[in-house]
Amino acid sequence: MFVSDSLSVNEKHHLTIGGCDTVDLAEKYGTPLMVFSEDGIRRNCRKFVSSIEENYDGKGLALYASKAFSCLAMYRLCKEEKMGVDVVSGGELYTALKAGFPPEKIFFHGNNKTTDELIYALESGVGRIVADNREELARLSKLAAARSLRPKIHLRVKPGIDAHTHQFIRTGQIDSKFGFALETGEAMLAVKEAIADPNLELVGLHCHIGSQIFDIDPFEHAAEVMLTFMAQIKEETGVELSELNLGGGFGIKYTEQDNPEDFTAYMKRVAVVVKKQCAEKNLSVPFIVIEPGRSIIGAEGITLYTVGSVKEIPGIRTYVSIDGGMTDNPRYILYQSEYEILCPSKADLPKDAVVTVAGKCCESGDLIQENAPIQTVQAGDLLAVLSTGAYNYSMASNYNRVPRPLVLAVRDGKEHIIIQRESYEDLIRNDQ
Ligand SMILES: Cc1ncc(COP(=O)(O)O)c(C=O)c1O
Repeated sequence: MFVSDSLSVNEKHHLTIGGCDTVDLAEKYGTPLMVFSEDGIRRNCRKFVSSIEENYDGKGLALYASKAFSCLAMYRLCKEEKMGVDVVSGGELYTALKAGFPPEKIFFHGNNKTTDELIYALESGVGRIVADNREELARLSKLAAARSLRPKIHLRVKPGIDAHTHQFIRTGQIDSKFGFALETGEAMLAVKEAIADPNLELVGLHCHIGSQIFDIDPFEHAAEVMLTFMAQIKEETGVELSELNLGGGFGIKYTEQDNPEDFTAYMKRVAVVVKKQCAEKNLSVPFIVIEPGRSIIGAEGITLYTVGSVKEIPGIRTYVSIDGGMTDNPRYILYQSEYEILCPSKADLPKDAVVTVAGKCCESGDLIQENAPIQTVQAGDLLAVLSTGAYNYSMASNYNRVPRPLVLAVRDGKEHIIIQRESYEDLIRNDQ
C-alpha cells in the first residue's frame, strides 16, 4: 500500500513508521519532524552488501553515497552494516571520521575539491580519491609528494550515456561538469598521465550516470563502455586496472505510479554484463564498487508537518500551508519532484481533496507539491510527506532563518533523536 514496507496504519487509522505512531511522535517532538526507519535503512544496506557477495563472490564494496543524508548516526549505521561511504566535501569527511568511520573505506569525490580538502583527505588516509580533472591530478600529485604519500586514486569518467532522468540529476553524458570525457580522448590522456605519475597510484575508474533511474539498460551500457575502456587502457599502456566503480542512481518509489526494478535485479543484470565483458576482453573481473544513496535511505524517511491554514481560491486552487517547506525539502522547486502526501491521523481514509501544499517561506515558488490528492484537512491537522529521506535534510537551508527540523530514527516501536532541532541560538552562532 505504501512506498516503503516500514510504513503502515494502526487501529486508530494513524500512519505508523517502524512501529511508531506518527501522530504521537508529532505531539511529543513537534513539527516539522523527520522520521527514519532504522530497520528499513539497514534492510537496504544488507541487500546491497549481500548482492556484492552473491554476484561478485564478495570481491567488491557497497558504498553509501552519504550526500543523500549525512549525519553521525548514519555513518555509524553504515559502519555496523559493513558498508563503505562516499563523501564529496571536507564536511562530509569530517562527519564520517567523527563518527569513527574507518578512513580506508571512505571514497572522496567532487568536481572541485579545494586544496584544503585534498590535504584533509590525504592526511586522513581515505581509501580512494576519485580525481575529476587534470588540474586536480597535478595538485594532488604535488600535495602527495610533499607528504611522502602515494594515494590510491580512481578517475571519474563520463561514459557518454544519457540516462533518462531529470536533466539536473543526469551526469554521465558528455555535457556534464563531472569527470573526464571518453569521446574527446580526455579520459585516456588523464589515465596515461596518472599512470606515469610516481606520486599517484591509479587503481581504477569511476562512473555515475545519474540518479532516480528506473531502467536497467543504461547501467548495463555503462558497465560495457567502462570495461571496453579498461581493455583499451590495457592495450595502450599494458596496465590492467583492478577496480571499477559503477556509481549509484537506482530509482525508488515516490508515488504509486513509480515502478522501479528491485535493486537486486540491477545488481544481477549488471554483474552478467561485467563478467561477459571481462571474459570477451581477456580482463580479470575487477573489484566492483557501487554507490547507492537514494535507494538506501529515500523511501525510509518521512516528514511530518502541521497545517497552519487552508486557503481556497475558488476556481483556481486550494493552498494548504505547512510549517516547513523549501527549507527542509527543496526538491519540488529544483526538480518538480512528485511525492505521496497524506494526513497521518486519517491515513487509511479516502483522499477526497486535491490541493497545493505550500511552505512558509517568503517565496511564491515555495511549494512541496501541486495537484496533490490528500484527505480533507484543516488548520491544526498533520501532513506526512513520504519518501523524503534522500536529498531533503542534506539540501536543507536556513532561508528566512527557518531552523532545520528535528530528526528521529525509529525501530521496533521506539524512537531516538539523531539530529536535534536547530534553535534560534544556532542560527546566530556564527554572526558577529
Ligand atoms: C558520484 C555519485 N555517486 C553516487 C551518487 C548517489 O546516487 P543515488 O542517490 O541516486 O544512488 C551520486 C548522486 O548524485 C553521485 O554523484
